[in-house]
Amino acid sequence: MAESMKGLKRTCRCGELSAANIGETVTVMGWVAKARNKGGIIFVDLRDRSGILQVIFEESECGSEYFEKASSLRGEFVIAVVGKVVSREGAVNENLATGAIEVRATEIRILSESDVLPFPIEADSKTREELRLKYRYLDLRRPDLQEKIILRSKITQSIRAFMANEGFLEVETPILCKSTPEGARDYLVPSRVHPGSFYALPQSPQIFKQLLMCSGYDRYFQIAKCFRDEDLRADRQPEFTQVDLEMSFVDVEDVIDATERMVAKVCKDAIGLDVQLPIVRMTWDEAMNRYGSDKPDTRFGMELVDVSDVVKGCGFGVFTGALENGGSVRGINVKGEAEMPRKKIDALVDFAKGYGAKGLAYLCVMPDGTYKSSFSKFMTEDELKALVERMQGEAGDLLLFAADRLKIVRNVLGALRCEIGEQLGLIDHDKFNFLWVTEFPEFEWADEDERWVAMHHPFTMPVEEDIQYLKTEPERVRTKAYDIVLNGVELGGGSVRIYQTEVQEAMFEALGFTKEEAYDRFGFLLDAFKYGVPPHAGLAIGLDRFVMLLTKAESIREVIAFPKIKDASCLMTEAPSVVDDKQLTELGIGITVQEEETTEE
Ligand code: AMO
Ligand code: AMP
Repeated sequence: MAESMKGLKRTCRCGELSAANIGETVTVMGWVAKARNKGGIIFVDLRDRSGILQVIFEESECGSEYFEKASSLRGEFVIAVVGKVVSREGAVNENLATGAIEVRATEIRILSESDVLPFPIEADSKTREELRLKYRYLDLRRPDLQEKIILRSKITQSIRAFMANEGFLEVETPILCKSTPEGARDYLVPSRVHPGSFYALPQSPQIFKQLLMCSGYDRYFQIAKCFRDEDLRADRQPEFTQVDLEMSFVDVEDVIDATERMVAKVCKDAIGLDVQLPIVRMTWDEAMNRYGSDKPDTRFGMELVDVSDVVKGCGFGVFTGALENGGSVRGINVKGEAEMPRKKIDALVDFAKGYGAKGLAYLCVMPDGTYKSSFSKFMTEDELKALVERMQGEAGDLLLFAADRLKIVRNVLGALRCEIGEQLGLIDHDKFNFLWVTEFPEFEWADEDERWVAMHHPFTMPVEEDIQYLKTEPERVRTKAYDIVLNGVELGGGSVRIYQTEVQEAMFEALGFTKEEAYDRFGFLLDAFKYGVPPHAGLAIGLDRFVMLLTKAESIREVIAFPKIKDASCLMTEAPSVVDDKQLTELGIGITVQEEETTEE
């Protein structure tokens, strides 16, 4: 039978006790991590969120009634213990923060009992993730998971303190709203009052924060929940949290400055890391040329090299063919790997194909200076020499080349570089390399729709001198958009916003929206701009990703208390779920397709 706490008050957490408390009588409460009965003496490891404490029961000290109760303890019982803190003297446990002391119990109450657990509560759990997610409330008892959730709270507090100190106002924006412009699929919520109409959950507070600037709120921030119905990955969840901010009367520099000081403070507060300010900046063009990625991992080299001019007119049709079609030939130099087994090279070719390559050409500069290559027979000795020279190839190097449309070449080599970097252990996992990537292009060509789409969103301000190209040469337009990247992961991004009607209209035109379509979606924002709009800019950081990287977690799921799995379902609550016909009728909704049995990851 569960006992009551009546008359008892917890005096401290388990992990808070130390040698300084020796001699004190304390009341602690928590979960039984372990209970061992060694004849006349019972050892209990008592756990709460602060840590583990050893409690000892001896009949001569606690009396037979309490001793008997202690004998009945099993794992995960919740108990209250009154006892005296004593030194462990000879038996100090160096592995435990409270290892110098123990509590000698004089009273125990069993507040609740526990069934046998579906899996043990242990650090670095070996239990499969699906089972742990089904019982997430148990999984959350694991000390290593608790550490991450506690650190997340600390990070949020550090952000709030910084933002308040810098004069940012915390304002909440609606969750039931109209479609927002981030480009992923919306989650929709049906309206009962307006049958056939739907709210969209916000993909970000973008429009509201811009409206707040129109209202004069100057500096806004929010720890904002965002919702995006997109394919999930290790660093993506359908609902996630942004540290969202917007500022008025500012330009790129001001947002970058405020953000990087915030990031530096959080790193210091959370893990004691000193971030060197200012954070290095690179234009999008440079990042794409050097790393084949707009979120480059700069913890190692192996940069891309353009060899198009060197192989122009050579005898290898794959290279010249790509160039004749307006493409490019680029390579990476994998230092010292000339003798990589053929099987491993073939695996890299397959990897490249997974990123859209038609193939991958290789050239090994053997230790004796001869070449072993998939294409050397098509090229003269001089052509090969020039190619190796451009790649700064030395005896022992493995050179890999992709020939295709520039977008594909960059994508393939960018991914390959990271894969090889990881495989060969070139990445120092103790490094935190921050980077700003600036001047993103305004548009990107969507092959499937055969039209230009906004790379960031349609309110992104072009670089002044490129505004003239909006209507004529969209591909030339660079923007005042910036991303902050950490170790090859996009941590956050933002931009200066368009606030002039003419520029905004040109932008919508380039995106192929008619005036009516633009008004239908964003009319209230465009209207607001008619009544006095300050120049403004902002950014959002993905809080979950930030915590994931700072805790070196392998997945974003480890830093979210109740995450979803790949198919966007929650294994614990079994959301999403079928609803009553009555509810559907009320909403005016009829289901035409019954979902098939869903499968886990
Ligand atoms: P953006 O779409 O780049 O910008 O999002 C900002 C940051 O949010 C994080 N993020 C995600 N994290 C987890 N799961 C997801 N599905 C997910 N999607 C995005 C990323 C990303 O860098 N309104 C603009 C910001 C602005 O312009 O001010 C926006 O939302 O870390
Ligand atoms: P093939 O003539 O198609 O047998 O190709 C000769 C070599 O070029 C093989 O090693 C292919 O993997 C490689 N290759 C084929 N297409 C490409 C490409 N687009 N870029 C780089 N290498 C390629």
